[in-house]
Amino acid sequence: MEKYTQIFQGTAFSSKSSKEVQILKDYLFCINSNGMIERIIAPDDTDYVTLLETYHVSENFHRLADGQYLLPGFIDLHVHAPQWAQAGTALDIPLYDWLNTYTFPLESKFSDLAFAKNVYDEVVNTLLANGTTTALYFATVHKEASLLLAEICAEKGQRGLVGKVVMDSQEENPDFYRDTDTQTALEDTEEFILAVKELAKSTKQGVYPVVTPRFIPSCTDDALKGLGELAAKYDTYIQSHCSESDWEHEYVQNRFQKNDAFALNDFGLLREKSVMAHCNFLNDADAELFAETGTAVSHCPVSNAYFANSVIPIAHLHSKGVEIGLGSDISGGFSPSLFDNARQAVISSRMLEDGVNTSLPADERGVSNSRITINEAFYFATAGGGESLSLPIGRLEENYAWDVQIIDTLLPSARLPIFNSNEDLIDVFQKIMYLVRPENIREVWVQGEKVHSRT
Ligand code: GUN
Ligand code: FE
Repeated sequence: MEKYTQIFQGTAFSSKSSKEVQILKDYLFCINSNGMIERIIAPDDTDYVTLLETYHVSENFHRLADGQYLLPGFIDLHVHAPQWAQAGTALDIPLYDWLNTYTFPLESKFSDLAFAKNVYDEVVNTLLANGTTTALYFATVHKEASLLLAEICAEKGQRGLVGKVVMDSQEENPDFYRDTDTQTALEDTEEFILAVKELAKSTKQGVYPVVTPRFIPSCTDDALKGLGELAAKYDTYIQSHCSESDWEHEYVQNRFQKNDAFALNDFGLLREKSVMAHCNFLNDADAELFAETGTAVSHCPVSNAYFANSVIPIAHLHSKGVEIGLGSDISGGFSPSLFDNARQAVISSRMLEDGVNTSLPADERGVSNSRITINEAFYFATAGGGESLSLPIGRLEENYAWDVQIIDTLLPSARLPIFNSNEDLIDVFQKIMYLVRPENIREVWVQGEKVHSRT
């Protein structure tokens, strides 16, 4: 009798800790009808041969081919779905000007549901094809189009956490793109939360509403307070931008005489289910508040190179006990790939450690103990993201969701440089992390369902 819905046989990589990668060589992964990993069986386990005998002829048995490996699906903790339409462009001016010149005019077009559908279909497909199985999305201020994004995630099988963006300040936002007023912003948010909770009832992999003040500058005190209350009432996720750039950080200092972290906390916006994008200018007191409240940082290294005026001390924040995941920040970051962002996270951290200004002596140039390894960047893209969202995702372990990407290292058009069939698997892992391109990602599964295939 077949007990499992799917069985996979192959070699997998999953984080053991933030610094250590676990190699599961030739294991069996037994998936149940809820799409959860019910059992993981090592080759020397007595059940291994019995299970293989039972399942190897079943169409639900998947043996990975030579050169193929399993990774957990990536968890993108910060994506602006509408901004996919301008990804790779508009990277020439600072944050404040970028928002007003390019981004708000683009986002205002999402009142048109046909345009929204075009872009949202594409961005969800693209993220899945890049191995992203869970995404924490900003939509736009429009309630209907934001709900459409959640429906598209539900239909395509991606685990989507979606926020209708709140921007209610009449002074700080352009008339062509903002909420009508504070009360409407809060009412729309509440209706949006209820609609997504309804949609979630029929969505296997989960969709979740997210309370989403764009950032402090775009919101009135009343909206921030009301949003904190809505998040508590419905126990929702919360996302925003926090301490991102010199301008944004100083704006909040001038308005509240405190940093973003403490200002957000005063409005009830730092909770276990909060994820704050960027956070480059967090000081130690802010970091301790994040750790105490369970608020996570979504680190967006590609975007930071354009808009954050700094490199975030990510190793230091992690050492203070702050939960950390990775974000693409499309389109502040141009790349939809968390492979690219993991690479950039390592590169930026190395440049922070060594410093960049050659007119300074070497010992004054950088910030010691800043570097992270590719193993840590992988952890942020997977297990760290799962912990940030308090969901059983991002690890290949029993009682975690079957969210995986199958990587082919032998694809003729994108072969990885593995010349020794006995190559140390930790080297194979590192080559995957640094060299994989989208075409190497042959299949993507979410909650036990195949959602993307190149075969
Ligand atoms: N701050 C407020 N809105 C945005 C946005 O869309 N992208 C980035 N990077 N920062 C922001
Ligand atoms: Fe952003």
